Amino acid sequence: MMKKRMVWLITGINRRMMKLLIALALIAYVASVWGTYANMRSLQENGELKIEKKIEEVIAPLREKIRDLEVSFTQKYPPVKFLSEKDRKRILITGGAGFVGSHLADKLMMDGHEVTVVDNFFTGRKRNVEHWIGHENFELINHDVVEPLYIEVDQIYHLASPASPPNYMYNPIKTLKTNTIGTLNMLGLAKRVGARLLLASTSEVYGDPEVHPQSEDYWGHVNPIGPRACYDEGKRVAETMCYAYMKQEGVEVRVARIFNTFGPRMHMNDGRVVSNFILQALQGEALTVYGTGSQTRAFQYVSDLVNGLVALMNSNVSSPVNLGNPEEHTILEFAKLIKNLVGSRSQIQFLQEAQDDPQRRKPDIRKAKMLLGWDPVVPLEEGLNKTIHYFGRELEYQANNQYIPKPKPARIKKGRSRHNL
Ligand SMILES: NC(=O)c1ccc[n+]([C@@H]2O[C@H](COP(=O)([O-])OP(=O)(O)OC[C@H]3O[C@@H](n4cnc5c(N)ncnc54)[C@H](O)[C@@H]3O)[C@@H](O)[C@H]2O)c1
Repeated sequence: MMKKRMVWLITGINRRMMKLLIALALIAYVASVWGTYANMRSLQENGELKIEKKIEEVIAPLREKIRDLEVSFTQKYPPVKFLSEKDRKRILITGGAGFVGSHLADKLMMDGHEVTVVDNFFTGRKRNVEHWIGHENFELINHDVVEPLYIEVDQIYHLASPASPPNYMYNPIKTLKTNTIGTLNMLGLAKRVGARLLLASTSEVYGDPEVHPQSEDYWGHVNPIGPRACYDEGKRVAETMCYAYMKQEGVEVRVARIFNTFGPRMHMNDGRVVSNFILQALQGEALTVYGTGSQTRAFQYVSDLVNGLVALMNSNVSSPVNLGNPEEHTILEFAKLIKNLVGSRSQIQFLQEAQDDPQRRKPDIRKAKMLLGWDPVVPLEEGLNKTIHYFGRELEYQANNQYIPKPKPARIKKGRSRHNL
């Protein structure tokens, strides 16, 4: 009996112990599971924190750059006049990313108009108009005028065409298409929307002139099959098209015969006299003169031209008008003047004369003076100094940015045009 009781007592104790042990094991298990879970969480949180930190390290500088860009976008447009709805015009500039077109865009924007620039960037570049990109009055369209264009505008300044011999001779057929089909397309647009069109024609329509200075009633002396014919004849037929549309369709046209123009944003490697001489003088190379240097040229500063174009567009003069500076200089005089202004020690080198190089070129601007009240006002030296400054900055920019010129114009050998343009 006693033994039985002892066994019962021991088993009783064991049972309790067992329960206790099981309870302890359970608690230990739960605690260890909880510990592992907590450990994993903290590891995960640590990992997440590390990833977040890494992402932040990458994003922070980008965020700063975006902030800088936002600041630069919100501000620095040149000041623009306010024009009432009645006076504000919707103006299209074809070739508006080029040298003359971009200065014209500046003027029209600052006068308070809505400006659309259309350009295929053959010789133009975005940099010329980048200071307007994003402005509510400005639009830039990448388009070739050889294709039709459908937009609503009040005025069209039709400037699209390569303008310097190396550029227009690079692809003569394209030059012809731009000046013929391109002009037809723009005249068609002017007719459809009732816009007035101004054609940027050229003194080259006078060819190698037999009369001097050239007035608008001179018909010209052009070789129709020479190397410059694609441009000269292209512009002549563009003028013909303007007057056909005026007579047949009642389109309002204005024709500016532009003489040699220079200024900032002109192409540095276009082989024209001013750009050649400035570049050569800045780089310490010989200034190359084709022929004897006795050929004459007259150069106008780009702001004078732009004022003349706007005056002509808003006038009631529908016949062609010369826009140029009649101050005539020999090529040799230009070479010496630029050499002095740059302060260069470059030599002057005489090379063989080019084919169809006009001997004299000087505008008769009496018509522009009388009918538009327009006269060039920027003195030659002042214009040259501004252009020299621009060329200097561009050379610096190119050196700092390892600028690689666009492939097409790059084919033109720097400063080695065979023309005194
Ligand atoms: N600068 C001068 O001394 C001068 C003299 C006489 C006439 N012009 C005339 O003035 C106009 C502008 O000359 P610039 O000196 O500014 O030349 P530029 O080469 O700087 O500008 C011409 C612009 O037209 C664009 N273009 C060319 N073909 C085009 C096409 N098919 N479609 C759309 N865009 C096209 C070019 O990309 C460029 O932006 C030209 O029509 C030129 O014939 C200029």
